[in-house]
Amino acid sequence: MPSRLCEKFGIEFPLFAFSHCRDVVAAVSSAGGFGVLGATGHSPETLEIELEWIDQHTDGKPYGVDLLVPASIDSKEEALAPEEIEERIPPEHKAYVLNLLAEHGIDTGGLYEGPVREGVGDNMREKGAGLVIDAALEHEQVKLVVNALGPPPDFMLEKVRAANRYVGALAGAREHAIKHAERGVDVVVVSGTEAGGHCGEVSTLVLVPEVLQSLARFPDSAVVAAGGIVTGRQMAAVMAMGAEGAWTGSVWLTTAEAETAPAVKEKMLAANSRQTVRSRSRTGKYTRHRSAWTDAWHAEESPDPLPMPLQGLVSEPALGRIAALAREWSPRGPKPDDLFRRARRRTHESTDLRAPGRLRLHAGLRRSRRATERYGRGVVLRRGRA
Ligand SMILES: Cc1cc2nc3c(=O)[nH]c(=O)nc-3n(C[C@H](O)[C@H](O)[C@H](O)COP(=O)(O)O)c2cc1C
Repeated sequence: MPSRLCEKFGIEFPLFAFSHCRDVVAAVSSAGGFGVLGATGHSPETLEIELEWIDQHTDGKPYGVDLLVPASIDSKEEALAPEEIEERIPPEHKAYVLNLLAEHGIDTGGLYEGPVREGVGDNMREKGAGLVIDAALEHEQVKLVVNALGPPPDFMLEKVRAANRYVGALAGAREHAIKHAERGVDVVVVSGTEAGGHCGEVSTLVLVPEVLQSLARFPDSAVVAAGGIVTGRQMAAVMAMGAEGAWTGSVWLTTAEAETAPAVKEKMLAANSRQTVRSRSRTGKYTRHRSAWTDAWHAEESPDPLPMPLQGLVSEPALGRIAALAREWSPRGPKPDDLFRRARRRTHESTDLRAPGRLRLHAGLRRSRRATERYGRGVVLRRGRA
């Protein structure tokens, strides 16, 4: 599977795996792919612990970190002090969540007690993100720093370039991808509406060729495709379209390495491809999944989800409580409440979605190789006939 990204990063396969779980990142990088750790919830100190662990479990292999930093945060909620943030959360939103949990028999005691924690939102601006990037760049194996919220801001570009590493950025629309390329982003992650997180409105099959055409004049920006990619065949398909690699997220949530609660894994595996919605109910930005939580926020009587990071401050305490219940659930216990996240099992083929990340990666790549060979034969045949 030739791709210049293999050479650039020193990897065997141009398969990128986004995860908040260090075990997944380490397993994928160790197996010859490229793991990327979601670092936005970390302080420099907690990130240091995770990266130290990944270094110890990857035998010198490269990996990346991912942050959510808007290019400009002037006059947005992200720039506010904690007490100002608190004031921006309408009581109606908290009341809606308290009722919802109570309806599902979940204890609501003390849910929103206590002030918004100091430093909330810091990682979305230079103050916090700069320190997190500095901590990440201390690790030689961190070869890529990715921004998931628009073009990487100047301080991010400067720090990463000065350390001689690469910059990536997610794009859910053609215009966003062009802005990234204009800023010299090395890896543009083009994410279709199928994606489990950071999903735009256009399908991967349509968006990737559209972006490739627009970025033809930026040969230094590599395009990798994201959104709905679970199998090797799908990876081969996006590379046949011209992408230089595949970027994946949801597929790792059910692996043996993932920290996902067993009850939630079961729900994800049991769900089908129609059981997702695009919803702002979790973070304020669009994510794709479905549960009683998303249904409630799409109900006629629900308030509109708030912008990031306010919606997260409304949802996180509640979803944290639901996640704790999900962790306690055992297959012999009562059926888990429907508030537990469901996500579709996109395409199952014969891929064992429970398999450890490393194993799944190799099975997928075998299929990808076969699909690429078939595609290659098809091209030769058609050429032969012409
Ligand atoms: C639970 C979850 C959380 C995510 N959080 C982030 C994030 O913090 N930063 C980011 O760049 N992408 C995030 N993503 C998006 C992934 O990087 C990736 O683009 C997406 O999952 C690809 O689509 P797929 O889920 O169909 O594989 C998240 C995805 C999931 C499923």
